[in-house]
Amino acid sequence: MFDIINKLTQTFGPSGNEKKVADLIRDMLKDKVDEVKTDVLGNLICIKKGSGKKIMLAAHMDEIGIIVSFIDKNGFLRFSNVGGLNPFVILGKRVIFENGSVGVVWYEENIDDIKNIKLEKMYIDIAASSKEDAERLVNVGDMAVFEAGTILQNGRIISKSMDNRIGCAVLVQTALNQPETENEIYYVFTAQEEVGLRGAGPAAYGLMPDMALAVDVTATGDTPECKPMAVKLGAGPAIKIKDRSVIAHPEVKDLLIKCAIENNIPHQFEILSQGGTDAGSIHTTAGGIPSGGVAIPTRNVHNSAEIVDMKDVENAVKLIEAFINQ
Ligand code: CO
Ligand code: ZN
Repeated sequence: MFDIINKLTQTFGPSGNEKKVADLIRDMLKDKVDEVKTDVLGNLICIKKGSGKKIMLAAHMDEIGIIVSFIDKNGFLRFSNVGGLNPFVILGKRVIFENGSVGVVWYEENIDDIKNIKLEKMYIDIAASSKEDAERLVNVGDMAVFEAGTILQNGRIISKSMDNRIGCAVLVQTALNQPETENEIYYVFTAQEEVGLRGAGPAAYGLMPDMALAVDVTATGDTPECKPMAVKLGAGPAIKIKDRSVIAHPEVKDLLIKCAIENNIPHQFEILSQGGTDAGSIHTTAGGIPSGGVAIPTRNVHNSAEIVDMKDVENAVKLIEAFINQ
């Protein structure tokens, strides 16, 4: 499964530019499902036909990044954020554009206090010597993402873009396993989650499922002096209770808990005080769709080095397989 995760995390796909990720997933799944389609917003929908309940499984394909807003006469780039981006997180990091051009993020050093650093006070150096020089590599409107490798160490993976290629990997692996079920399963790889859960709602409206699960990352409370949170790496996938976008529907939440207990799958419960997920836009679609979530515990979310535990990932696949067979 590491190979799938490696390929997914290393594929370029900031919000609104998910096509490369969608193409990769389409290639991985096209022989394992009955139908594959892409909708107007760029959501990739893989359908396994069935006569039972219609179950939508959603994982967002997009990753956070930056967008070039201005190029100065010396070839330095000014930029804006695509999704939630902390200035301290991006400071000193490498970013990579779709064409492979690499830049380094730095800041105006005459700032009186580093605590006042804002994205407007930062720039990207792409090793250009003039505006014309820079424009041979990059244009205003181009997006870039973190440039960082994906490594497996001690049963855990350190990588950029775990949010949410790890969710995509879980759904890809589930579909590849071809779990036995009479239900109709919609594996939906959504667009534009990081800019406001924009793709998932329209995808759900088009499919009108009987219930939905969002598969995404969640924060943990297991690092030095962090905010208390009852989720830790290696203790199993987290069943969503609540985040800022959704209160999990009791029918979905209880079914997940039942599946976990019956199949001896370690699990924990997610109450995420910051951030939302695709279930937030799915559950208010049309007349309302019972929705919940399965979350992969992840350290350092929205950073270039996010960490997950392989056991949690594998157990998430098991939990979702049990869920869709109900
Ligand atoms: Co995110
Ligand atoms: Zn996410």
